[in-house]
Amino acid sequence: MSAGYPELVAAIASEVTASGPIPFARFMELALYHPAFGYYMRPSKPAAERIGWKGDFYTSSDVHPILGHALAKQAEQMDRLLGQPSPFTIVEMGPGKGLLARHILSASQHHYPSLFHRLRYVLTERSPAMREAQRHTLAPWLDRPELITWVDDLAHIPPHSLTGLCFSNELVDSFPVHRIQVTAQGIEELWVDYQDGQFVEHLKPLSSDRLASHLRQIGSDWTEGYRTEINLHALDWMTDVAQRLNRGFVLTIDYGHTAQDLYSTDRKRGTFLCYRQHAVHEDPFLHVGEQDMTAHVDFSSLATAGEEQGLQTTGFTNQMSFLMGLGMEQMLAGLDQNSPELTAAIQLLKPNGMGTTFKVLVQHKGMPHPDLDGLRYKPFFRSALTTRSAA
Ligand SMILES: C[S@@+](CC[C@H](N)C(=O)[O-])C[C@H]1O[C@@H](n2cnc3c(N)ncnc32)[C@H](O)[C@@H]1O
Repeated sequence: MSAGYPELVAAIASEVTASGPIPFARFMELALYHPAFGYYMRPSKPAAERIGWKGDFYTSSDVHPILGHALAKQAEQMDRLLGQPSPFTIVEMGPGKGLLARHILSASQHHYPSLFHRLRYVLTERSPAMREAQRHTLAPWLDRPELITWVDDLAHIPPHSLTGLCFSNELVDSFPVHRIQVTAQGIEELWVDYQDGQFVEHLKPLSSDRLASHLRQIGSDWTEGYRTEINLHALDWMTDVAQRLNRGFVLTIDYGHTAQDLYSTDRKRGTFLCYRQHAVHEDPFLHVGEQDMTAHVDFSSLATAGEEQGLQTTGFTNQMSFLMGLGMEQMLAGLDQNSPELTAAIQLLKPNGMGTTFKVLVQHKGMPHPDLDGLRYKPFFRSALTTRSAA
């Protein structure tokens, strides 16, 4: 029998046995988000053990509060550009343990009191176990119930109701992806079957016309054997976010690329990876439900999906430039130059690491094109975001 969390392996195996092979995206959805047994959903494993130094992977907010401080500073400028509305709403989607929320709330409270007094912070989190972890992290502010609220789905937020900022850090890379491969038959999709107690992959025709049409939009000169991932879920999510916003910004941080880079002919094996106890490998059928799975984000398609719903692309940059634009270099200069704290913060800026792997896409709605400090340095220009076929 395939290794992993036994009840989850049994649940996926029983779906496959009943319906036949499932697209890889469905397998990933169940492995991460099966309502009872999925990696992010199970209450049994303390949430803190998934994300963080003792867990399977860490994120920027585990490293240093500097990203939260930068986001608070950026939110304060956005607030002024929007005419200091009351409330100014921040919607954080997929907040993990809630550390980034803690850093943003703390920085706003101490440095931006005018914003803090009008702030409403909404956390969108589909996992009850992660919501519990977030409640624990945000305990210092829970005596102000109007300040922080939770929803499990954006659908609970009325359309066109938000003025403020909707943002996410490392959410989109955790959405289930379709995996495709070029074969002698054309472009085929990876489907998951269950045979002799093991999950196995098969290459079969594409599971939907929508996937085929998206692949046509990307355009490709890939050769046989080329593998990559398509995140259709991200496009639906962007549509949802755009429709919730009345006036304001969408800010998405994640590891990813323009479509041109992500789908370049050199990147033959795609970007799909699994994380368990800080080890990285490519086998989704090992430790099913006991490991995270991710794929890099196609920021061009996200920008286009937003534009189709009335968002305008404000700019696209990397995390290093975003942090520098918001003055984080000066902030670091104020720290003890030999402190472990400085070493940790610098990790988020490193040009050969987190500083450039992570990208930042900003979109806006209901206002003239704004000049944002976080986008002062833009190594990627607007045209670089256009999809390959349109480029
Ligand atoms: C990798 S973690 C995010 C880490 C976190 N933002 C940080 O900065 O540390 C992904 C989170 O998104 C949540 N999630 C996944 N899909 C979601 C969705 N559609 N809506 C809301 N939350 C979602 C997961 O349960 C998990 O808490």
